[in-house]
Amino acid sequence: MNVRIAAVLALLTSALLAAPQVQAQAVAQPAPPLVPVLAPLTPVVPAPPTPPPQVGELATSIITWNTLDKAVSVDFGTVNVPYEFLFTNVSTEPVTILSVRTSCGCTTAQLPPMPWTIPPGSNDALNITMNLIGKAGTVVKSVTMQTDKGMKNLLVRCTILQLQSSTQMASGMREHNQMLALADPQAIFKGDCANCHAEPAKGKLGKELYTAACGICHEAEHRASSVPDLKVAKQERNAEYWRNWISGGKQGTMMPAFSVGLGGILTDEQIGSLVEHLMKTMPTKPNLSTHAGAAVPAAAAH
Ligand code: HEC
Ligand code: HEC
Repeated sequence: MNVRIAAVLALLTSALLAAPQVQAQAVAQPAPPLVPVLAPLTPVVPAPPTPPPQVGELATSIITWNTLDKAVSVDFGTVNVPYEFLFTNVSTEPVTILSVRTSCGCTTAQLPPMPWTIPPGSNDALNITMNLIGKAGTVVKSVTMQTDKGMKNLLVRCTILQLQSSTQMASGMREHNQMLALADPQAIFKGDCANCHAEPAKGKLGKELYTAACGICHEAEHRASSVPDLKVAKQERNAEYWRNWISGGKQGTMMPAFSVGLGGILTDEQIGSLVEHLMKTMPTKPNLSTHAGAAVPAAAAH
């Protein structure tokens, strides 16, 4: 037998014995002369296993953020809004980002290949883009990042501002809308009106629901003078007061009845979440400079 081939076989055999995990490749390869024989000796480096996701909140002792809730205002007609969340791994271990999900197809994350590992002590940026086509008023979307050390929820908000010219153009439309609403306060939940006044409230609760369903009128900068500022209490306001106003509205005004049972769009659960949110955030007594929350008995907030 040729001495060189014998040497190759000896090498190959020892490689097979020493590294059983590469056996399949070694056998599958036709025995080429000399040099490539060394290839099976190179240990096959397996891809690092993806760590399992952890349930629970990603602690700020692990990752710190410049913000968790980013709000911007853009002019009407803007199509894409970029958001950047800066974060730092302040722990002593790597953190692996496994996925980033958003609450709307209109909002996307620009990501490196997953899994995305953040070495200890280093910082990086999570870039999000919100697409505003078909959107109006204030848009709020959530972004959920899942890591091997827990998950984190971030919020992106955008307020679409009316341009001077479009405000003027829309003023005839606004009068028309107000006439319709005065004739039938429930009109805002129907037809095209629903795109802005009902759709954004779907499936929301609490603060988000307030912004979508109530804020569109009560927090609007250029709202009609007949729409009151809810941050001013004109009388004592308890949970019943809020519930009655929200559920039933007021006939003969532009304040609609929101309860599904009265032709509105909100379930009892949604109304309950609004009452809870309003009791916590709005003043309950007129002419009181003390913080609203202090006057709320714990039971009323639930
Ligand atoms: C279409 C616009 C519109 C929307 C949407 C709307 N409101 Fe109103 N709301 C009004 C108007 C107009 C009045 C004034 C009624 C009147 O003349 O007495 C009013 C009055 C009120 C009042 C009584 C006044 C006060 O200062 O306490 C409350 C409470 C109230 N709204 C809460 C809400 C809540 C909560 C929501 C969301 C579920 C909501 N409104 C959504 C237009 C609106
Ligand atoms: C493109 C989104 C959009 C549509 C569609 C829309 N609204 Fe509105 N509506 C708003 C905004 C935003 C406000 C807050 C006031 C403002 O900025 O003009 C508002 C306010 C109102 C108000 C409070 C009074 C005021 O002008 O401040 C009433 C009443 C109202 N809308 C009724 C309607 C009715 C009725 C329709 C359908 C015929 C309708 N809206 C369709 C966005 C919309």
